[in-house]
Amino acid sequence: MHVLLTAGPTYEPLDPVRFLGNRSTGKMGYALAEAFAAANADVTLVSGPTALPAPTSTHISLVRVETAQQMYEAAAAVAPRADVWVFAAAVADYRPAEVAPEKIKKQGDTLTLTLVKNVDIAATLGQAKRPEQFSVGFALETTNELTHAQDKLHRKNFDLVVLNSLRDAGAGFGHDTNKVSVLDAAGQVLTFDLQAKTELAHRLVQLILSRFAVSYA
Ligand code: CTP
Repeated sequence: MHVLLTAGPTYEPLDPVRFLGNRSTGKMGYALAEAFAAANADVTLVSGPTALPAPTSTHISLVRVETAQQMYEAAAAVAPRADVWVFAAAVADYRPAEVAPEKIKKQGDTLTLTLVKNVDIAATLGQAKRPEQFSVGFALETTNELTHAQDKLHRKNFDLVVLNSLRDAGAGFGHDTNKVSVLDAAGQVLTFDLQAKTELAHRLVQLILSRFAVSYA
């Protein structure tokens, strides 16, 4: 069993000293990598910049990247031979259109940046997903959560989508705990109470592996 896992944020450079990024810590993705390894799966963990220590399990091979484009290239190199794909990264949707070769100097009272769209890693790989492969995405929504998550599931060819709750204290970015709902393509919803990300990771891995086994049978 080989799992491709993306985790953490992406950093999109603006000049040699600045970047656009987000607050993802990578905790949920790294916890999932450890939980898959504990279930005897081999994991390729494609990680954006995080402060987390590299996993020590020999089942996990860590590929460090910075930008969405680098994350896409690393994931695409592994995806064809991975049985399960899990997209836990918080990928920047846009990047600066130009990366200044020198530090941008302060000038007027305002600064306008032009951003261009990044590749959608999950959706692009999803187009080439084979029937025996299984893909899991994450979604973070503030309105019409279930509808948007269901839409993402179809658009990105996910088999399951993990919907992060933003309404609950202690859930999501930066916290050690998380509360999620999981949707499948049949519209079934499973909810997981607020719990440690490490604990939740084990439960999600059990769910993913059991659904993968059923779809593969
Ligand atoms: N994702 C990805 N590549 C991107 C953007 C998102 O692989 N460029 C993946 C994420 O890792 C996650 C899923 O797609 O598993 C949903 O991410 P999200 O940011 O919620 O979706 P978006 O498509 O960016 O939609 P929006 O920002 O409009 O809600």
